[in-house]
Amino acid sequence: MLTIVGSGKVGSSIALQAGMREVDSSILLLDIVKGLPQGEAMDINHTLAEQGKDTLVRGSNDYADMKGSDVVVIVAGVGRKPGMTRMDLLNTNAGIVRDVARKVAEYARGSIVVTVTNPLDPMTYITLKATNFKANRVMGMGNLLDLSRFKSFIAEELRVSRHSIHALVIGEHGENMLPLVRYSSIAGIPLTQLITAEKARELVERTRRVAAEVIALKGATIYAPANAVAEMLDAITKDRRDVMPVCAYPDGKYGVRDVCIGVPAIIGRDGVEEIIEVELSDEEKVVFDNGVKAVREAVRSVEI
Ligand code: LAC
Repeated sequence: MLTIVGSGKVGSSIALQAGMREVDSSILLLDIVKGLPQGEAMDINHTLAEQGKDTLVRGSNDYADMKGSDVVVIVAGVGRKPGMTRMDLLNTNAGIVRDVARKVAEYARGSIVVTVTNPLDPMTYITLKATNFKANRVMGMGNLLDLSRFKSFIAEELRVSRHSIHALVIGEHGENMLPLVRYSSIAGIPLTQLITAEKARELVERTRRVAAEVIALKGATIYAPANAVAEMLDAITKDRRDVMPVCAYPDGKYGVRDVCIGVPAIIGRDGVEEIIEVELSDEEKVVFDNGVKAVREAVRSVEI
């Protein structure tokens, strides 16, 4: 069973997208708001029925119902408002995520956890510590969402199919995110051979800024985050061993041992199967390390 804790716009969209991909036969939507998860479950079930998808979605306000979950998504918490950074949500969401994580440890001991709540990297680390799960069973969705934007901009710039693009974004899901132009290609052709260094910098900056632009226009980002989570869930539940960027505990890789941060990893049945350590240039390492520093300072400033 897949449990999604938080049945707001993103949580319910994750349920819909996960149902459409049939990542599990049973999805539980949990929320503290009476009626919300139940209503969302009904609406999604009607959609899935017409689509001929047999995933059954249930809604509940009782954490005990997550008992026996194989995967739990934590998306509970407050979303940022126009003009805010993700890190501005730290003090508001830290307690929420810590409490939810403790309930996951109580009711879903054997589960794999995917954290979505922002600021993503500190929240993923709080989840790891509050559940006390082995590091491979806790990951965060951040860079896969950044990657979806980076790919979108590359396709737009080169006027090629999005299908032809392979790219990589790692690091903090925040002001110090690291879209890796050098590790991006179109049908195997390095991106660096197809755009100038100046254009590359422009695409990187657009990737960093675009979430705030969407939030300023429509109040929240919804479908793209939900899609990225559903992609990770599909890789886990179908043991796809996909290589994708996720927020994870590097355990010494990239020189990081004390926080969670976005890194390339093999994702499968056991969660983070293996973290892949790619070589970074001096310039890339500075950005990556600035992200680690920001996350480290954040986790040190809150109670875990
Ligand atoms: C975003 C939020 C989910 O990047 O962090 O849209």
